[in-house]
Amino acid sequence: MRHLMSPLDFSVEELEELMTLAEDIENDQEKYSKKCAGKKLATCFYEPSTRTRLSFEAAMMNLGGNVLGFSEASSSSAAKGESVSDTVRVISCYADICAIRHPKEGAPLVASLHSGIPVINAGDGGHQHPTQTLTDLFTIRSLRGEIKDLTIGLCGDLKFGRTVHSLINALVRYPGIKFKLISPEELRVPSYIRDDVLKKNNIEFEELIRLEEAMPDLDILYMTRVQRERFFNEEDYVRMKDFYVLDKNKMTLAKEDMMVLHPLPRVNEISVEVDDDPRAAYFKQAQYGVYIREALILTLLGLN
Ligand code: NCD
Repeated sequence: MRHLMSPLDFSVEELEELMTLAEDIENDQEKYSKKCAGKKLATCFYEPSTRTRLSFEAAMMNLGGNVLGFSEASSSSAAKGESVSDTVRVISCYADICAIRHPKEGAPLVASLHSGIPVINAGDGGHQHPTQTLTDLFTIRSLRGEIKDLTIGLCGDLKFGRTVHSLINALVRYPGIKFKLISPEELRVPSYIRDDVLKKNNIEFEELIRLEEAMPDLDILYMTRVQRERFFNEEDYVRMKDFYVLDKNKMTLAKEDMMVLHPLPRVNEISVEVDDDPRAAYFKQAQYGVYIREALILTLLGLN
């Protein structure tokens, strides 16, 4: 039985197979519409979500399967003090596969150790968000043709942003990838990413504060939200929240074919006037998230 805790759980070759499957699903949805008939996906979300939970549910429905679950800890037995491992042990009796989002780093991993069904980490605290990374990789591959020779700017909350941590982990395995890490001093990437991932793999990267400075070099700009829920005090959040605002003016500094990605939700970090720019790819990215989650469900259930 296979779980998904980190994007590194799949080799680059396996990711390629997964993305090829997602591409086939995108091109011929009918062919896959009954693949999961009789199967159930449980979504256990102890933290807010729109895209991740609903795209998982949409993915399972597109495959002809059913979904069950809860969308907040307060409506589950967690409110009565039940542990994640007990919950997942029980859910293993009701469903065939399970996606868990939890505010505590490592909770989905603990769940996977007690589960009788495949567990997918749908985001654990400030740690990892592997299915967002699959979405990001699939978006880059679909819109660029390949994942290679790219200068990628990651901008915003690089400290608490789990999508950033997972994406860096995954991208260092592809050839010719360079990073510009754009953040305020207080929100720089954690040292375990800088030292154990970037430096260890001899990846070219630069840390900088001004987005304008990085802009002309970027092939991809990955914007992120300041993660309010992970701040220790509101004052610091308020000071940081509007540090970056990508607007039309800043877009004039970018390459003609630069791609803007964002895991969403956005708050103020991308002005709505950028949405009409052909380089804005964040809503397409959300659509790609459904195909890649379909491919993931099929793969983990051994139905691919
Ligand atoms: C991200 C997350 O939950 O980490 N959202 C998502 O799943 N698309 C990003 C965020 O919340 O800022």
